[in-house]
Amino acid sequence: MDLVPKDRPVRLGILLSGRGSNFLAIAESIRAGRLKNVEIAVVISNIAEAGGIAKAREMGLPTQVLVSKGRRREEHDADVIACMHAHHVDLVCLAGYMRLLSPAFVAAFPNRILNIHPSLLPAFPGLDAQTQAFDYGVKMAGCTVHFVDNELDHGAIILQRAIPVLDGDDAHSLSARILIEEHIAYTEAIARVVSGEYEIRGRRYVKAGTEGTREQAVVSFAADRS
Ligand code: GRF
Repeated sequence: MDLVPKDRPVRLGILLSGRGSNFLAIAESIRAGRLKNVEIAVVISNIAEAGGIAKAREMGLPTQVLVSKGRRREEHDADVIACMHAHHVDLVCLAGYMRLLSPAFVAAFPNRILNIHPSLLPAFPGLDAQTQAFDYGVKMAGCTVHFVDNELDHGAIILQRAIPVLDGDDAHSLSARILIEEHIAYTEAIARVVSGEYEIRGRRYVKAGTEGTREQAVVSFAADRS
């Protein structure tokens, strides 16, 4: 973030459509103190029956259902943006939000929208990424947290976590093991973004002030592997 509030926590706006396990992992990280200086401002679902919104309600968090079905994307997004602003959201986290964002939404929160995707992007964007990866026969799978831009599953990558695909896996067991990594990755990615220590360099999201430290990078990489 180029503007990290110094006098108050960073306010997250969570958008979800389903069971909400990534949202719950973020909430638990905040509760446990793993994610500091962050609070959940609002949880918004576009599906009234989403399990995640019921859990947010039980937790006493501010919630809002804004049903998207049958509405024009721009109209629905305008309501979501207004709700985010009403709750003074700094950073939007898509957590299983099964809807593309309009350009107006992306422009309303420039480099302030994160998404988690269950593949090592740019491989396997779109739906059923874990099954796509499994069927392709990859040996490494994983997840990606990235900034959202106007292309599907495309913005600058904040971090990735990789796991091997085991010979005994099926798409279901692989998805379950990727999900464990997702829950770790989202917290780490948010921590990175709110730290104010990283910057976008081209497509790369890197620690500020590390330009020209290639030799040092080679040495520390070698040391890590010895
Ligand atoms: C996750 O696999 C996430 O990567 C993808 O949608 C799924 C949402 O799961 N974008 P949950 O609702 O967070 O449990």
